Amino acid sequence: MDLAITPIFSGPGTMTVFFVAVASMFAHAKRITKSMNEVFASLGAAKRVFEVFDLEPEAPDPPGAVPFDGLAESIEIENVTFDYGVGEGPALDGVNLVIKRGERVALVGPSGAGKSTLLDLLARFHSPNSGRILVDGHPIEQLRRGDWLAKVAMVPQDPFLFQVSIRDNVRYGRPDAEDEEVMDACRAAQLGDFVDSLPEGLDTQVGEAGTRLSGGQAQRVTIARAFMQSADLLLLDEATSALDSEAERKVQAALANLMEGRTVVAIAHRLGTVRGSDRIVVLEGGRVVEIGSHEALLEGGGNYSRMWALQTGD
Ligand SMILES: Nc1ncnc2c1ncn2[C@@H]1O[C@H](COP(=O)(O)OP(=O)(O)OP(=O)(O)O)[C@@H](O)[C@H]1O
Ligand SMILES: [Mg+2]
Repeated sequence: MDLAITPIFSGPGTMTVFFVAVASMFAHAKRITKSMNEVFASLGAAKRVFEVFDLEPEAPDPPGAVPFDGLAESIEIENVTFDYGVGEGPALDGVNLVIKRGERVALVGPSGAGKSTLLDLLARFHSPNSGRILVDGHPIEQLRRGDWLAKVAMVPQDPFLFQVSIRDNVRYGRPDAEDEEVMDACRAAQLGDFVDSLPEGLDTQVGEAGTRLSGGQAQRVTIARAFMQSADLLLLDEATSALDSEAERKVQAALANLMEGRTVVAIAHRLGTVRGSDRIVVLEGGRVVEIGSHEALLEGGGNYSRMWALQTGD
C-alpha cells in the first residue's frame, strides 16, 4: 500500500514515532473488511497517528520518565492481557514471557492468535489492560517514549512505502543519513544490485508515480529502513503473502543480516524460518501454549509438532 507524504519531520524521535505509528495503522487497516467495529478501531489508529504527529517528542512522557539507551538484561512480559474491546474475547490473555538481551524469540501460531498484538504492545501502540511489561525492571510506559522507539525497529507484516524516492523511504529510519549510509543499508538488505541497476539509483521514485517494486523488493526496502536505525530490539512480522523462492531467499538473507547482534522477536508463518531461534513461543487464542527450542517442541509432540508436520509433510 502506498501513501504520499512529504517528509516534514522535526527530528529522529518524532520521525520514529510517526513511522512506527503509520506501520501500525496500515497493519490494522487491512482488517477494515472484517467488521464495522474494526473499522472504528482502525479509525482510532489513524487518529492516533495524527495525534502522535502533532506532539513534541517529549510530550507523551510521564514526569520522571526513565531514559533508555538499549536493553541491558531483559524484557519481562508478566501476565499481560489486552482486549481491543470489539472481538469475542481478549487478543492476549495472561501472557508470560521473558526475552533476554540478544535472544532470538520466534512467535508462531494460527491467524488471530495475538502474535501481531504482542509486537504492538512491545512497540507501545497499546498498553496492557492488566499485567505489565518490564524493560530492565522498569514498566515500559515509564521509559522515555522517543528513547524506546529509537531502539526498536519494526518490519511490519505488510511492507508499506511512501511515494517518495528510494532514498527517502530508507532514510525514514534516520532522516539525517548520508547517501553512503543509505547505500550501505540497501546493500545489507540485499537491495544494492537492484538500486545500482536503476538509471536513477536512490532517486528512483517508488509507488504509483514511479517504479513499482515487487513484494520482495518492497520488503527489503523496509528492512533497509530498519538497518538505518541503530535499534537493538527488532520486531519482525513475517509477511503472510508468499514470495517466489528466489525473492524469499533474498528477504531471508537480508533479515539474517539485520538480526545479527540484536534482540529479536520475530513472527513466523513459515516454520522453516524459525528453526534457528533460541526459543519458539506458540500462541493460540491469546495464550502461550508452548515454549521451547525447535527440537524440544518437536519431541514434546504438541501443537508445534503438528504445525511442523503439516507444513513439512514429516
Ligand atoms: N485493530 C484491531 N481492532 C480490533 N481487533 C483486532 C485488531 N487487531 C487485531 N484484532 C483482533 O485481535 C486478535 C489477535 O489478532 P492479531 O492480529 O494479533 O493476530 P495474529 O496472530 O497476528 O494473526 P495473523 O497470523 O493473521 O497475522 C484477533 O482476534 C483479531 O481479530
Ligand atoms: Mg499478524
